[in-house]
Amino acid sequence: MEEKILTLGIETSCDETAAAVLRGGREILSNVISTQIPLHQKFGGVVPEIASRKHIVNIMPVIDEAISKADVQLGEINQIAVTYGPGLVGALLVGVSAAKTLAFALKIPLVAVNHLEGHIFANFLNAPELEPPFLSLVVSGGHSSLIKMNDYNNFELLGQTRDDAAGEAFDKIARVMNLPYPGGPQIDKLAKIGNPNAIDFPRAKVSDFDFSFSGLKSAVLNYINSAKMRGDEINNADVAASFQKAVIDALIEKTVAAAENFRLKKIVLAGGVAANSSLEKNLREVCDNRGLKFFYPSKILCTDNAAMIACRGYYQSRAGNFAPPTLNAVPNLSF
Ligand code: KG4
Ligand code: ZN
Repeated sequence: MEEKILTLGIETSCDETAAAVLRGGREILSNVISTQIPLHQKFGGVVPEIASRKHIVNIMPVIDEAISKADVQLGEINQIAVTYGPGLVGALLVGVSAAKTLAFALKIPLVAVNHLEGHIFANFLNAPELEPPFLSLVVSGGHSSLIKMNDYNNFELLGQTRDDAAGEAFDKIARVMNLPYPGGPQIDKLAKIGNPNAIDFPRAKVSDFDFSFSGLKSAVLNYINSAKMRGDEINNADVAASFQKAVIDALIEKTVAAAENFRLKKIVLAGGVAANSSLEKNLREVCDNRGLKFFYPSKILCTDNAAMIACRGYYQSRAGNFAPPTLNAVPNLSF
């Protein structure tokens, strides 16, 4: 009976309004994502107030579409899982209010999901055989973290960025290069035609399993600005490829070190930056060479979506971890 539980997932932490229906823990019946990216592009980044206003317009139609695409009735939904942090407060509140209202009206339980944990759970949707324990590298617009997942409801933060997140660095460099928001996919594309060894950008020396990307970001910005001042022509593709390699090298080095240190045999990549083709390819190669099993979500499940939130919510509900009716958004929620 438990496998047939229908979970409605709701995600509005940043610039995607998303809803999904999951049957059991891993079967996606629908996964609807309404992106606001074109709306924010002309500002070069997400404008929080515009994001909230767009979520309030889109949330009900997106939920309605997720229910009808799943070919179920609203009354058949057994529980609702919603992202309550981290993210933009005004954006989060739209999803949280919608979820609370629906759960109250339908008299069904509500589950409060940490968005970052959701990113890790995206992997369960692609790999039915995946089970904890494993090491997860979570790289998104706001976070770069190494997480040891001992069990479905037991996480340990091994390390994180001390300054900029990997995605944030991608977005900032892209902005200086006049590439549209979000910068990650643009740098990824440009890097494909550049030489990753053209410029030797510095790698930060940080202890343990932490990361640091602000020094690298400044080095790239200095490189671009000094070239501009000298009137030298910049090879954007080489800059993109060399910067991307420096980020990926740091991410892979720490991931491998943590896997060895904690004797973990499975590596799980998660978060928006996981959509980076070079990161996926290089980490997969390193894992293959070291006898580590590599897991990676499909592109659509890498970036923000509600199927991953429903999946995380399902496993929380199995542990009896439900939200109170007083649930609030927690914008700076961490692991
Ligand atoms: O996880 P996500 O969708 O939202 C957050 O929770 O932050 O991640 C968004 C981040 C952005 O910084 C975006 O530039 C980056 O993921 N990103 C990429 C790629 N696709 C998205 N970064 C590098 N290469 C990509 N292909
Ligand atoms: Zn995210």
